[in-house]
Amino acid sequence: MKINGKKYQTIWFDEENRVVKIIDQTKLPHQFTIKDLKTVNDAINAIKVMEVRGAPLIGGTAAYGVFLAVMENNNPNFIKQSAGFLIQSRPTAINLKWAVDRMMKKILEVNNNEVLKVALDEAKAICEEDVKFCENIGLNGLKIIEEIYNKKKSTVNILTHCNAGWLATINWGTATSPIYHAHKKGIPVHVWVDETRPRNQGANLTSYELNEEEVPNTIIADNTGGILMQRGEVDMCIVGTDRTLSTGDVCNKIGTYLKALAAHDNNIPFYVALPSSTIDWDTKNFNDIPIEERNSEELSHIEGLDESGNVKKVLIYPKKSKSINLAFDVTPAKYVTGLITEKGICEASEDGLKSLFK
Ligand code: MRU
Repeated sequence: MKINGKKYQTIWFDEENRVVKIIDQTKLPHQFTIKDLKTVNDAINAIKVMEVRGAPLIGGTAAYGVFLAVMENNNPNFIKQSAGFLIQSRPTAINLKWAVDRMMKKILEVNNNEVLKVALDEAKAICEEDVKFCENIGLNGLKIIEEIYNKKKSTVNILTHCNAGWLATINWGTATSPIYHAHKKGIPVHVWVDETRPRNQGANLTSYELNEEEVPNTIIADNTGGILMQRGEVDMCIVGTDRTLSTGDVCNKIGTYLKALAAHDNNIPFYVALPSSTIDWDTKNFNDIPIEERNSEELSHIEGLDESGNVKKVLIYPKKSKSINLAFDVTPAKYVTGLITEKGICEASEDGLKSLFK
């Protein structure tokens, strides 16, 4: 997708300099910075401090992280240890372990002479596949937007939470892909963008990328969606997910569950968009999903541009106050209208998912 009119992906391999390149998302929306990942530790750090974030992009970065480990030292013990550290970089998004396991399975099959090329090819394949999956999620989700448009014959108002846009994947995004397809097809859409405290992925990333693609959108405080739904100003909700269980229960950015409850109370369709790499077929009970708790400074401090245009971090809470910063919650399947995947749309249930993914 475009930034300042130029096409980008969120991660790519620079063949000439033999480095992995990323868009440093901690600097957005005020600074656009491309950063080099040269070692596996660079990849681990980029995931931890959220220079890259969003389940599919975390998976893509982890795949390149395994490649960087092989490039550093193709000793199997070093690679295995690096894979372990990569998986520990963040706990909730299942794409991380999915990508590392896929890479390790591929490279442990080959001899030392080939391992570097095989690792690079597989990391690229994981990213290219994600682009295709997200494009197909868009084409499948487009049908829902078209149906609403054909009924109301005016702007389709879509609410989204966090950033499940192209900045959270390799390209297209998951929740945003149907929106980009509808916009490109000339269907009038408008997006209510939850700012998504405390890191403001909605305001800083989703609104930013929608602006760059000239998709009309309005940033709202996270607690505003309910009254907009009551007033009939939301036609549908679409969000992403960090881990969806085979039961159809959906883990996503903190606040998603409350949005789903409001949508349910107001009979607003609540869709979740995901590639199959985000399905956790093993965990059956959503209470067993590891929910990340991040530094509470993400809550008590906030970054922004000061009057001289410099990015500045300021304390917004009383000095003596304490806080906790849980990063994800779980929306039970009963509040999910449907799952939009690369293979089609299904009910949020075991039967639903198995009807698409044998
Ligand atoms: O903490 P983040 O920014 O990594 O959380 C991201 C989300 O919750 C996204 O909605 C999810 O990863 C889906 S991205 C397509």
